[in-house]
Amino acid sequence: KNWTTELRYQHYDKWPEDYIKQLKKQVSQSKWRLNYHVQPETGLLNDPNGFSFFNGKWHLFYQSYPMGAVHGLKSWFHLTSTNLIDWQKEGADLLPDSPYDSHGVYSGSAFPLDDRLFLAYTGNVRDNDWNRFSYQMGAWMDQNNQIEKVQLPLIEQPPKGYTQHFRDPQIFVYQNKYFMVIGAQNEALEGKVLTYMSTDLQNWELQGELDFSEHQMGFMVECPNLVFVDGKALLLFCPQGLEKEILPYQNIYPNTYVVANEFDSENNRLTNPSSLKNLDEGFDVYATQAFNAPDGRALAVSWIGLPEITYPTDREGWAHCLSLTKELTIKEGMLFQNPVAETKDLREKEYKLHGQLHAEPQAISTSIENQYEMNIEFEQGAKGKLTLLADQKENTGLELSFDTERGTMIINRENVGISFGEEYGNQREFSIPQGPLSLRVFVDSSVVEIFINDGEKTATARVFPKESKNDILLSGSQSSFSGKLWTLRSTK
Ligand code: FRU
Repeated sequence: KNWTTELRYQHYDKWPEDYIKQLKKQVSQSKWRLNYHVQPETGLLNDPNGFSFFNGKWHLFYQSYPMGAVHGLKSWFHLTSTNLIDWQKEGADLLPDSPYDSHGVYSGSAFPLDDRLFLAYTGNVRDNDWNRFSYQMGAWMDQNNQIEKVQLPLIEQPPKGYTQHFRDPQIFVYQNKYFMVIGAQNEALEGKVLTYMSTDLQNWELQGELDFSEHQMGFMVECPNLVFVDGKALLLFCPQGLEKEILPYQNIYPNTYVVANEFDSENNRLTNPSSLKNLDEGFDVYATQAFNAPDGRALAVSWIGLPEITYPTDREGWAHCLSLTKELTIKEGMLFQNPVAETKDLREKEYKLHGQLHAEPQAISTSIENQYEMNIEFEQGAKGKLTLLADQKENTGLELSFDTERGTMIINRENVGISFGEEYGNQREFSIPQGPLSLRVFVDSSVVEIFINDGEKTATARVFPKESKNDILLSGSQSSFSGKLWTLRSTK
C-alpha cells in the first residue's frame, strides 16, 4: 500500500468495510501476536492515554490508527479493566470529528470528577498548506461511557514565543488546585514543559515553564507527567533531540525521568531535582503515562514502540503494544518499577529452576510456549548469560549477559530472528548494582519485559523470533541459580 498523506488522513468511515475485514484477517495470521499484552486489533497503537480509575473500573485509552501500521488519523481507543491485567474493549472512542481535532485526537490524560471522567487531549489540525495547529481540548465521559466534547478549546493557542508543537496535556491535582503539564517547543526550537493551573478544569491559566533541570531538553518534549510517589515528585517525559552528554541513550528518543523533593507550585519548579535518567534500559519504551491512583499506588503504562522506526509487523498491518501495568515506588531517592501485584493472577503452571552455572550453556527449559514469567536469582559474583527465545543448535536468541562483579548487563537482540532498528544498535549496556542479582522476566511471543533487582532497573525489548524458538539457555560461572517459571494465561 502506498501510504500517501491523503490516505493516512482519510476519514475512517470512507474506508470500505471489506478493507477492514481483510486487514483483520491478515493481522490474525501474524505469528507475532501477543497473549497477555494490549495490542491493536488492526493498525497502529501508540501512546497510552487517559489512564484513570473511574466508576469502579480502571480506564485506559491508547492512540490508535486502525487502518494500517502507519501514523495516520489518530483517535483514542478505550479499554476498561477490573484487575489491570484483563482489558476489555469498550465501544466509546474519542474520534477526530470536530474542527479543533480534524487531523487527530492526540495524547492526553483523564481526571475523575464526581460522576464523570474529564478527558484532556490535544486536537491536531492541519490547514490546506499543511500548517499545524494544536489545541488543548476537553471532553466529559459519563458512567455509560458516553463522551461529550467540550466545544471550544481549553487552551486555544500556544503562548507567545512557542510553536505549534504543543501537546499531551496531563492533569493532576495539587494542594486543591488543578494543574496541567504540556509538552512544548519555544521559537528557538527548544523543548519545554509548560504548566497551567485551574480551579474548575475549564479555565486554565499559564504558569510558565516548569523548572526541573539546568540542561537543554532537545528540540521538543513529548508526554510529560508529574506524579507524586512516596513523598517525592516524579516527572516522566520524552525529550526529543536531547544531547547525549546530558544523558547517554541509544534509542531514537529516550523516555526519561527526574526525581525531586517536591513540586513548588508557587514558583513552578521541582526542588532539588535529580539528574536525568533513562526510565528503561532496553530498546522500545516511550510515552509512558503515570497517574496517582485512588488506592494510593502510582501506576504507569508505557508504549512499547518508538516513533520513526519501522517494525517487522508493519507489513502485516499492525504495530506495537502496551507494557504491563507497572507500579512506581521510590526508595532512598531511587525509582523502582514493578509489575502490579495483580500480574501474579496470570500465572498457571509452576516449574522450579535450580542448579549451578557452567561454561557450557544448559537448557533450563525447552518446550514451553513463549508466554511465561521467570524469576531467577544469582549470587554475588555471578557472571553469565541467559538466552531467551533461543535455539541451541542455531545459536540464536535474545542474550542477557550479566557480570555482578563489574556491575554490568548487556542485552543483545542481534540474533533473535528478524532484526530491525539496527541503526540505533543491537545491544544496550547498562549498570546494575554489584551483588546478588535477581531477574524477573516476562516473555510474550514478541515482547520481553525485564525487571532487575526488584525493579531498580527495567529493560524492555520487542523481538521477532522465527517459529518455535523457545529454549531458555543459561551459562556462566561462580554461582548457583534458583528460581521459578510460570506459564501465563492469555487475556484475550
Ligand atoms: C508521542 C506522540 C505525542 C502525540 C501522539 C500522536 O508518541 O507524538 O506527542 O500526542 O504521539 O499520536
